[in-house]
Amino acid sequence: MTAPLIDPFARAITYLRVSVTDRCDFRCVYCMAENMTFLPKKELLTLEELDRMCSAFVGLGVKKLRITGGEPLVRRDIMTFFRAMSRHLDSGALEELTLTTNGSQLERFAADLAAAGVRRINISLDTLDEEKFARVTRWGRLPQVLRGLDAAQAAGLAVKLNAVALKDFNEDELFTLTEFCHDRGIDLTWIEVMPMGDLGNEDRIGQYWSLTDLRAQLAQRYTLAELSDRTGGPARYVRLEETGQRIGFITPLSHNFCESCNRVRMTCTGELYMCLGQEDRADLRPALRNFPQDDAPLEQAIRAAIGAKPRGHDFDYSRQRADGQVSRHMSHTGG
Ligand code: 5AD
Ligand code: SF4
Repeated sequence: MTAPLIDPFARAITYLRVSVTDRCDFRCVYCMAENMTFLPKKELLTLEELDRMCSAFVGLGVKKLRITGGEPLVRRDIMTFFRAMSRHLDSGALEELTLTTNGSQLERFAADLAAAGVRRINISLDTLDEEKFARVTRWGRLPQVLRGLDAAQAAGLAVKLNAVALKDFNEDELFTLTEFCHDRGIDLTWIEVMPMGDLGNEDRIGQYWSLTDLRAQLAQRYTLAELSDRTGGPARYVRLEETGQRIGFITPLSHNFCESCNRVRMTCTGELYMCLGQEDRADLRPALRNFPQDDAPLEQAIRAAIGAKPRGHDFDYSRQRADGQVSRHMSHTGG
């Protein structure tokens, strides 16, 4: 038996989020610039390298794997990777294989994902209004995403919607989105916008809508029952007594979740970020590439990285500017 991954603050690391591409078919204003320069393909880990990397983490006790991007489903041949990871589900080493997607490719891939053992997916969707959707995603088309959502549900995947809360943008959709999710039997989670991307240059989108305020608005129509469910992440949940549905709130800007953090993030180039809000990272690629036949150096590099996981992050909106701002885009570390 190998020892599990425990960080310096006695947190067991059992959850790995992996970005498989920095590319995306959308250009959401809070995530990307309009003209993004993406990494040259040779910088990316190959699908075989991604497999070796993830399998090393699973061997070290990671139980949950979330595939992200960019948009993970635009990576060429990504289903090969999902099918390969399903062997860890079959063996029982991995408990959950999941992904976060913008939904644009789900019509094509939902059934394949379900066949590979994926049971739940997160779809990012901030608005049900076609014109607003086009505005916030710049390149996205709402009907395509809604068809993807239908396909996911038809394939038996449990769906959670993630909506970024944006002042003067989707405030007026609080109840329509809530009802939409209730009608379809899906969970809804609101995310506080983080100081990343190109918000500064966007006129009417992207002001910070505090989830405290959002919650108060929700409480005007529904009775909110606090739930104790924690996922080791920044989400808190309530149940709406009138409908029974679950609503989540992700407030990455508050510090209240760092002490239970169980996760690390890997970029598509093999860099491990130990904390979403810190620059601390470890490049695992040399250990991977320099020792193609031997996983021991890679495991050692992973252990060393976990040994340097910081206590928490420094985002802070309470001052005038967005302190603790991280310069990289979300698509780099995969949210
Ligand atoms: N703040 C909050 N959420 C963000 N996402 C991307 N950029 C930001 C940001 N600046 C979200 C997307 C998606 C997930 C991958 O990350 O909306 O739900
Ligand atoms: Fe693409 Fe998601 Fe970023 Fe939007 S938020 S540009 S869908 S990666």
